[in-house]
Amino acid sequence: MCGIVGYNGEKKAVPILINGLLSLEYRGYDSAGIAVLNNYSKEKKYKLEIVKDKGRVINLKNNEKTKNLIGNIGIAHTRWATHGIPSKENSHPHIDNTVKFAVVHNGIIENYILLRKKLINNGYKLYSETDTEVIPNLISMHYSGDILKAVSDTMKDLKGSYAIEVISEFFPDRIIIAKKDSPLVIGSGEKENYIASDIPAILSYTNKFYFLDDEEIAVVKKDSVEFYDINLSKIQKTTKTIEWDAQSNEKNGYEDFMLKEIYEQPNAVRETIGSRLSLSEKTNLNLEYIDFKKFNRIFIVGCGTAMHAGMAVKPIFEKFCKLPTEIDIASEFRYRNPLIDEHTLCIFISQSGETADTIAALKLAKSLNATTLSIVNVIGSSITRFSDYTIYTHAGPEIAVASTKAYTCQITLLSILAIYISEFLGYDDKNLQSFKASLLKLPEKLKKVLEQSDTIKKYAKKLYNQHDLYFIGRGSDYAVCMEGSLKLKEISYIHSEAYASGELKHGPIALIEKNTTIIGVITDSITAKKTLSNLEESISRGADVLLVTNQNIDNDKIDFTVNIPSTHPLLSPILSMVPLQFFAYYIAKLKNLDVDKPRNLAKSVTVE
Ligand code: AGP
Ligand code: GLU
Repeated sequence: MCGIVGYNGEKKAVPILINGLLSLEYRGYDSAGIAVLNNYSKEKKYKLEIVKDKGRVINLKNNEKTKNLIGNIGIAHTRWATHGIPSKENSHPHIDNTVKFAVVHNGIIENYILLRKKLINNGYKLYSETDTEVIPNLISMHYSGDILKAVSDTMKDLKGSYAIEVISEFFPDRIIIAKKDSPLVIGSGEKENYIASDIPAILSYTNKFYFLDDEEIAVVKKDSVEFYDINLSKIQKTTKTIEWDAQSNEKNGYEDFMLKEIYEQPNAVRETIGSRLSLSEKTNLNLEYIDFKKFNRIFIVGCGTAMHAGMAVKPIFEKFCKLPTEIDIASEFRYRNPLIDEHTLCIFISQSGETADTIAALKLAKSLNATTLSIVNVIGSSITRFSDYTIYTHAGPEIAVASTKAYTCQITLLSILAIYISEFLGYDDKNLQSFKASLLKLPEKLKKVLEQSDTIKKYAKKLYNQHDLYFIGRGSDYAVCMEGSLKLKEISYIHSEAYASGELKHGPIALIEKNTTIIGVITDSITAKKTLSNLEESISRGADVLLVTNQNIDNDKIDFTVNIPSTHPLLSPILSMVPLQFFAYYIAKLKNLDVDKPRNLAKSVTVE
């Protein structure tokens, strides 16, 4: 799940490569490396030079040897190990035995053991434990003067996923890139071209991008880019202009990206609503090619936070679209033979658009003739290219590993989609208008919730030494509890569980003892009393309780209450999640942890 960058132009490559890697560290950060073709003009020849080591990109930046990399063409990598421990030997770039080809790679070569054997039988030596090292050696083995043919032959040998960049002294004017199931974009500039795993890494240099599709190759020179398919037939591509603001990639004065992204939620949700929703007109999502009348069932599929967004909107689809709606974890869905046919609408949710399990689930749904519709944040990402239809969340770049604004924007957009389908099907639900009105008011209400940050910080101070926490709620509140518990685990490393509060008495209550902390979420008047009773049952057994609510609950046994504005009960997750985001954030800060880059995690999970 690593990040890769490339530069070919007139500037010195290293500063651009390092900047790109720093922005890609969310994809992995256990080791980093750069390969540059240095131009020793006296001898009139280029030399391939590499600096790499274990540890973060900053170590690479500060490494004295990096200063000797003066060339104008180079490739770089920040690694998240899949095959072989994080070490200097396993870090990228990897080179072939003749030291002529340098390669960086994102992905997993599934048949690497077989390929290693093949190379060893041909007299090659392999020095690392990685799957990647077979790639430069295969290129070298296939090379007889035509690099494109060597790369294409190598691609045909590989099984699995890859985004690769190749440079060599044999062709010092170009970077050869190729991909399958791992992301890679090309940024086009004036007498220079950039390559990266994602758009934000190079967005400060250009806003014109080419997107490489699977099993395609590109030859990136400083003043041209040529595209080929795996059989080396030429392909024509044009650039797309990306309107993201490079500024929004910076922290804007916030201590961390996560905090910045929490605070961006009112605007992000406003952008997601955009001109799609109004009280006086029909909802507009540019989905007129889908005949929603043909569906008898909806599946909503995603991983982690995206799947939790699905849980939160299930009742919205069932209420307004009157279609049975199932929520599934992508990694389960893909292996359980789901009952799908041409009458099924499969909705995939993904911030990055690159999650391997979600992509596999999408491909499965397509193969079973379902209509596939994706809710994605990253423009041009893989899921958008595989789906029949895509609608974008417009949350802006989300850099912190722990997702915040993507979640609230996903629920917002899915709610708009449910309204769109309901209108399409001609349901005249009397609640639809008030639901729309509540949605339109969410940005202002989110601002009010943000004002609670200091209150939550105070309570976080009481709790940051805890080892376990429990979250309970019913209906949409339970979905929020699942996400609140995930946030806390991800960044504060505190064990926590979320339960539908009615389930407490069926087992988990055995865990409650003096000073156990329970976080209750209550936003629906219909079930408020029930969850309150479950909290009382816990208090009687010694628990301390923090309550997030929009109800008027006056109970002096509750230690701490965070009051949030009321809204339509089905939209409450968008508001009630924010205090739980703050809660996880402040606890992690008090524990002195790196909130943006939690241990063992990566922003987009491009492996199974
Ligand atoms: C969110 O905080 C997590 N880092 C993770 O669960 C994430 O939501 C999941 O990996 C799915 O990612 P995606 O939305 O990019 O597909
Ligand atoms: N499989 C490669 C390695 O372990 C690349 C890792 C990745 O892209 O996640 O080095």
